[in-house]
Amino acid sequence: MGGGLTVKVVVIALLLQGVVGIMTPRRRVRCRAPLVVFGASMMDVGENAAAHPFSSASEFPPYGLDYFKAPAARYSNGRVISDFISIGLGYGLMDAYLNSVNPRFTNGVNFASSGSTARNSTQSSSAFFSLDIQVRQYRLFQMKVQSVQTRHRGRFIYLPTPLRLSRAIHVIMQAHNDYGNTILGQASYDPLTTVTSVIAAFESSLRELYNMGARTMIVMNVLPLGCTPGYLTNGARRSKALDEDSCVAEFNSLVDLHNSHLQLLINHLREELVWKELVVFDLNAVYIDAVRHPSKYGVKYPMQACCGVGGKYNVSEILCGNTGVLNGKEVQAWRCANPTEYISWDGLHPTESFAKHIAAALLSGKYFSPSLSISDACL
Ligand SMILES: *[C@@H]1O[C@H](CO)[C@@H](O)[C@H](O)[C@H]1NC(C)=O
Ligand SMILES: *[C@@H]1O[C@H](CO)[C@@H](O)[C@H](O)[C@H]1NC(C)=O
Repeated sequence: MGGGLTVKVVVIALLLQGVVGIMTPRRRVRCRAPLVVFGASMMDVGENAAAHPFSSASEFPPYGLDYFKAPAARYSNGRVISDFISIGLGYGLMDAYLNSVNPRFTNGVNFASSGSTARNSTQSSSAFFSLDIQVRQYRLFQMKVQSVQTRHRGRFIYLPTPLRLSRAIHVIMQAHNDYGNTILGQASYDPLTTVTSVIAAFESSLRELYNMGARTMIVMNVLPLGCTPGYLTNGARRSKALDEDSCVAEFNSLVDLHNSHLQLLINHLREELVWKELVVFDLNAVYIDAVRHPSKYGVKYPMQACCGVGGKYNVSEILCGNTGVLNGKEVQAWRCANPTEYISWDGLHPTESFAKHIAAALLSGKYFSPSLSISDACL
């Protein structure tokens, strides 16, 4: 009798699965691998706010209003790229590693820290957790997961099991601030010396992650900083020459040099070590495509910030959320009427809609070098 019931339940479950399968319009990735993220503000889901509350623009309106209806410690009008990668894998919004209030790390953990660099942090309070510190935080996280397994025999409520964590997909997005700080902060710089030091930081962190057992790694390259409203406005004080895309030529060639060296590093590490996957995600190509073909992305103003005020690129000293005097008039930099018509939210960070396009490009598998299938990485 009990056996009969079990069979019936199984048959019904199978039927339901079949029905759901047929009725599901889009094929969903079924992912067994948690998502582990390292990065800076474009990936930060609350790390800096947890470490140093009420000191980031992302904690004040109009940040977050379009999706969360309140600031959500994300540099966006809504969700950020890491959220959309996580959602695409079937996991929902991410939690920051330092989030101590009701966090859920079963399907992933996010170490991204706004303002951080790939190179070891040497400076100020605003440079939070550089890549080497994020990697050390991950080592501690791994150790805690292991100790929960040992002490509580696998009663995991909000953590992945060690086995599941060992399959993680790691996504690294770093170096935007290394180059941003160089462009805005240094009177002069040598491109090759700068790139070499940044690539050395990537190499040391990638080797460390490998030694910690990480085997699936997606490393993003750097987007064309010279095409962003912030660098078009502020960086142009030192370098005015524009390239054929109307972007600051000097900054984009610095980024291109980084991207070619990053690819060489990845090729080298693939030959030397045995990864499951180690690839570059060509974020730069996605961004340039949107600058050249904005309508493909529903964008009308590829070179302007949605939340800003003044100037050709809608960026001035009065940053998103602030009020000030511009040309003798009191003005406020606030949210534009239709954020989806912009690539850039505040001059530096993507709008929620463009962050979604970036994550979709990553999940589509079309921008990896060498190639990678997300469904294979999920196994
Ligand atoms: C950066 O930090 C890591 C570990 O925290 C260390 O192994 C490495 O030597 C440091 N690199 C430099 C250039 O100081
Ligand atoms: C600039 O930002 C404001 C919000 O402060 C918005 O209303 C306006 O449409 C934007 N201008 C341009 C040219 O995009």
